[in-house]
Amino acid sequence: PTPILFDCDPGHDDAIALVMAHRSPAIELLGVTTTCGNAELEKTTTNALRILEYIGAGDVPVAAGCHRPLARPLVLGTADGPSGLEGSPYLPQATIKPVDQHAVDFLADKLLASPEPLLVVATGPLCNIGLLILKHPEVLPKIKELIWMGGVFYRKSEIITPTEFNAFCDPEALKIVLDSGVPILMVGLDVTMRVLVEKAQYAELATIDTPLGKLVNDWLLFYEKLHRNSMGVGGAMHDPLALALAIDPTLVKTRPAHIAVDLTGTHTFGATVADFWGERGEKDNARIAYDVDADRFFKLMFDLLRD
Ligand code: BDR
Ligand code: CA
Repeated sequence: PTPILFDCDPGHDDAIALVMAHRSPAIELLGVTTTCGNAELEKTTTNALRILEYIGAGDVPVAAGCHRPLARPLVLGTADGPSGLEGSPYLPQATIKPVDQHAVDFLADKLLASPEPLLVVATGPLCNIGLLILKHPEVLPKIKELIWMGGVFYRKSEIITPTEFNAFCDPEALKIVLDSGVPILMVGLDVTMRVLVEKAQYAELATIDTPLGKLVNDWLLFYEKLHRNSMGVGGAMHDPLALALAIDPTLVKTRPAHIAVDLTGTHTFGATVADFWGERGEKDNARIAYDVDADRFFKLMFDLLRD
């Protein structure tokens, strides 16, 4: 299995990604770090602990990270409700606790202890990863690739927005990461808005007659409300798609580019701006996912939930 470190802000879609990471035989989950984003840090951390314990992954260490973005006040996500994980009130409270170490120190220890560079998957604002690079620059060569759910480029999807939440929430952290030289795979709205949970997916989920199947169904019913009301579509599997690429990178097509992030636009700060043709004279700093095989992604997701 591929060892990974998973930085997230659960969040319903982060939660499904966590479940997939634990259940995939292709992945060894070395640790989970939490950031503010979809909810305050205390809540995203509590949610991570509750989910992991419930699915039998209570031995996976969880380290809590940043309470706020590096240079801006925290603006919370709006899709997941006040707790960050509304819709499953019966999910038990966790008895496990986070480790007694800040996420960035935990990540540094894990990266430095590994003989091989490691894959890092990040599905929230990049507060922790940005701070990790500032505090522990020696870890840079130990990051094989950062698979990051965030950004939007082509504007071909159903929704038209200049900014994606994880980029908008902490654009300064994103800039630090983009400029660091870490290899990045950006999994933005361009592809994640093409993996939507609609009738066919609910029907498939209904065949998974287990407590976990019901839990995921209840999460999705809450999570899709915002998508349905504002965009008229089902819940987008943003973070599960990013995690799935650690299992099967062929689910997306990518192309290299230099990505910059707008920090000063009045209405566009956090916008990710891609240069595919070298016009800015900068070296490519990422691969951008621009196409996705949604059917194969959902097959992988449901297979992992099923058994
Ligand atoms: C991203 O923002 C969050 O609400 C989701 O968890 C996902 O990581 C999508 O824009
Ligand atoms: Ca997230």
